[in-house]
Amino acid sequence: MSAHISRGIAVVLASTALVAASDPASITVQADKPGARIEPMLYGQFIEHLGRCINGGIFEPGSPLADENGFRRDVLEKVRELNPPLLRWPGGTFTKIYHWQDGIGPKAERRRRPNLIWGGEEDNLFGTDEFIRYCRAINAEPYISVNMGTGSAEEAANWVEYCNGTGNTHYANLRRKHGFPEPHGVKFWGLGNEEEAEPDCGRLQDPAEYAKVAWQFAKLMKLQDPTIKVIVAGVGNNTNWNTTVLKSLHPVADFISAHWYFGTTDYANLLGRVAAFDQQLDDYAAFLGAFPTEPKGFSHWYRFPPRQAPVKLAIDEWGLWNGGAGGREVLWNLEQTYNWQDALAVASWLNAMHRHADIIGFATWAQLANVIAPIQSDRNGSVRQTVFHPLALYAKHCGNQAVAARCDSPLLEGTTLPSLDVAATCHDQKKSLTIAVVNRHATQSIPARIEITGGNYTFADGHELTAPAMLAANSVARPAEDCVQSRPLPMPVREFAPRSITLLIFQTTR
Ligand code: AHR
Repeated sequence: MSAHISRGIAVVLASTALVAASDPASITVQADKPGARIEPMLYGQFIEHLGRCINGGIFEPGSPLADENGFRRDVLEKVRELNPPLLRWPGGTFTKIYHWQDGIGPKAERRRRPNLIWGGEEDNLFGTDEFIRYCRAINAEPYISVNMGTGSAEEAANWVEYCNGTGNTHYANLRRKHGFPEPHGVKFWGLGNEEEAEPDCGRLQDPAEYAKVAWQFAKLMKLQDPTIKVIVAGVGNNTNWNTTVLKSLHPVADFISAHWYFGTTDYANLLGRVAAFDQQLDDYAAFLGAFPTEPKGFSHWYRFPPRQAPVKLAIDEWGLWNGGAGGREVLWNLEQTYNWQDALAVASWLNAMHRHADIIGFATWAQLANVIAPIQSDRNGSVRQTVFHPLALYAKHCGNQAVAARCDSPLLEGTTLPSLDVAATCHDQKKSLTIAVVNRHATQSIPARIEITGGNYTFADGHELTAPAMLAANSVARPAEDCVQSRPLPMPVREFAPRSITLLIFQTTR
């Protein structure tokens, strides 16, 4: 055992007994046990034509706060801090009625339509080209979901041609005419959205029927561009749906999607749901593992190749949604204020995703602005909600490979959940190691002994987020105030502050 004194703080760097009497918690990170690659695309975002997410959120032509494209500059600045590598659009459920040709070409000629899904009117001023421009402005890959409700396979394939076509064909030429000589290069295409859902206007609630129709969509779209990646619509907890769909579609399904929303103001319940999600991903791992890495016997008559990597899970909607308060108007706009306990849950949720990096292809938080969102805006400005902070911090400092980590800590009162939730990641083949520690206890600081085995690491950098109270929240009415206290750590903490999120970054000395 060699106790390494790093800037005055003891960090144990080789295997040893874990818990001293004075340390109610211990964290062991096995640096020599790197796990799966963590897709950077786990930090994606989602925008939908719903309430004030797009219009009045990221996009507000004519506003003094907007740029020449109509993009809200103050919001854009915050989106850049979140740095999403992937942006999903146009829905969500809205996808089921969206006709993409309504949203291209001269703005004066665009059709206004009732938004039959979320209410109000859709002016279609933010369409395909505006979406691509926004993606470029934030350096994100575009991800488009196609209409399988009122749309056809041909319409979806034409959209692929408009975006990616390079030939002398109608829709590729239309894109050129609209000022985009180069293809938009949209790689990710979703076949519908929550197609099992009965109450909305979808038409494919039967998994066998969905699979049959989705095959035709996939074929026509891949014939337009064989390089696209296809996301088929799955369900978070419906084994029958997922099995039926993937049995049929797995040769062309690069990803199967699932959505997770947790909506409760009861903190223990919220953390319990995050823990259940962790377990559900174990089930997904077994389920996805049953499909071949590279499908065999794919007929050459398809004239496009089959999937060439394992099917991965696309968590293309995740977030906290408790239904809002204040009746129907608020309910349909999905505007929600997040407090600090929500942010702690989000950090734990990211930890769970890191632990299951092997099966997650990407994730897109729902949604980016105003609608169950990390960014809240009004006509005069915008704020970072509490949940913004862990999303931005993790995206910036966590590594691209999971590392085995174990934590023993006291339980939260009245639950079977540990107070500390820990995940570790490394960067660039173990050159640096990030340990993410969430102290979910509202009032107690927790001393913990940290042990890194399998390598020599010294502390390099640290960051801590806390808030004065579990129910502290930010408000767009007070844009200058941020209840979240963020501080750099010049040395590794020995004791994790109550209700804190801490990232400790170590670098190898070899
Ligand atoms: O994100 C809000 C809605 O939640 C989406 O439109 C839908 O896919 C989900 O049910």
